[in-house]
Amino acid sequence: MGRKLLLEHINVPGINTFDVYRSKGGYASVEKALKMTPEEIVEEVKKSGLRGRGGAGFPTGMKWSFLAKPEGVPRYLVCNGDESEPGTFKDRYLMTHIPHLLIEGMIVSSFALGANTSYIYLRGEMMPQVRILERAIAEAKAKGFLGKNILGTGYDLELYVQPGGGAYICGEETALLESLEGKRGNPRIKPPFPAIAGLYGCPTVVNNVESIAAVVPIINEGGDEYAKIGIGRSTGTKLISAGGNLKKPGVYEIELGLPVEEFIYSDEYCGGIANGKRLKAVVAGGSSVPILPANLILKTINNEARLMSYESLSDGGFVSGTMLGSGGFIAYDEDACIVRNTWNFARFYHHESCGQCSPCREGTGWMEKVLHRLEYGHGKMSDMDLLVDVSKKIEGNTICPLGDAAAWPVASAIRHFRDEFEWHVTNASEATSRNYGLAHYADPLKVVETSPL
Ligand SMILES: Cc1cc2nc3c(=O)[nH]c(=O)nc-3n(C[C@H](O)[C@H](O)[C@H](O)COP(=O)(O)O)c2cc1C
Ligand code: SF4
Repeated sequence: MGRKLLLEHINVPGINTFDVYRSKGGYASVEKALKMTPEEIVEEVKKSGLRGRGGAGFPTGMKWSFLAKPEGVPRYLVCNGDESEPGTFKDRYLMTHIPHLLIEGMIVSSFALGANTSYIYLRGEMMPQVRILERAIAEAKAKGFLGKNILGTGYDLELYVQPGGGAYICGEETALLESLEGKRGNPRIKPPFPAIAGLYGCPTVVNNVESIAAVVPIINEGGDEYAKIGIGRSTGTKLISAGGNLKKPGVYEIELGLPVEEFIYSDEYCGGIANGKRLKAVVAGGSSVPILPANLILKTINNEARLMSYESLSDGGFVSGTMLGSGGFIAYDEDACIVRNTWNFARFYHHESCGQCSPCREGTGWMEKVLHRLEYGHGKMSDMDLLVDVSKKIEGNTICPLGDAAAWPVASAIRHFRDEFEWHVTNASEATSRNYGLAHYADPLKVVETSPL
């Protein structure tokens, strides 16, 4: 059994209440941290090797140490709970079931950063979670863990929950800050980075829900202990939201370094592919990361077992690797249509583009239209090259990474499944009636038989 640092008590009845959470050792990290100096806390987080769980995997301790500290200017901690990436639903799970873990992490992290006002920004549709968090904040405040003079230490912290307008782009940290300031959620040009000029122009750290929750076990057990879990520069545990054609979809806490095959097929995790089908492809880290065919998600290019870690998943670069991203793991069985899935993702990114830069605004629309005609039997053989060309023109040429996020799924689907796209052109009538590219299944490299596990 892998160690559980975040979800250990998730099934304890009433764990969403202060009293039950406290009876399981909750808020001990606040008591410990308030006796430390902010610098010591930052040092523990650095030692832990924690990397941001929002997608990019940037080291959290290093990000904290970049925070500017000008005299007389407030600093802010903003928790990013926007979580709108298709396939990703781990933060919502954590906030719904164990809200005090996030609040505890927010108090310790705010103290470490010298913030006296902090925010948890949620996607506008997450109103149940807004209410859950507000109730938990009121409980923590009543017990002296928030507000003025926390636990008699002289430290003050006000924590607010802010629902957003309901847009994927508001998860991008600078768009989030615009939205939090009451404006339209358009990403800002960087630099300046939020650590220098963030919320209301003041130094700000934006961290993912899971990153902030992970600060709790780091302070309780110490950064060195945390760093012993995991593999290489992928330390600690990670929440993975598993969906698609799996026997047991859900949210799992894994120790980083777990073999992908074990995650998919063992009963401790997803239990294999549903309905006795074979695995065809996987999106390992949310819709933004390159899709990989089954053989490449189970093995690296050197024929080693592919692991659930930042390094192993990206082995082979964008030619034959992918990314851990936000931990949104989607498995596709042999009946899944890659063309339809790619069109679906493209439709999402076109809809969510904020429209500030033309490669993203126009390119996502083009990709959606071309993929639509391929899926519905009006495609041309030249469309695949056209899609790759458009994706290259978007990639790296935009204000924020949403452009890359839109380009990579399309480019990787064509790289690995070009024959299925071609099949949609040559067998237009069958493709339109959704006989999902059966030609593909004969290819032993792409479809993997049920695992021996
Ligand atoms: C289009 C887009 C959407 C994003 N959505 C989220 C999100 O929902 N949650 C999140 O934590 N990070 C999201 N990010 C990443 C954030 O910009 C930022 O890197 C992250 O919140 C930093 O937290 P971390 O260092 O703890 O990972 C998104 C980025 C982009 C480009
Ligand atoms: S890349 Fe897309 S979402 Fe990001 S700023 Fe440009 S238009 Fe907006």
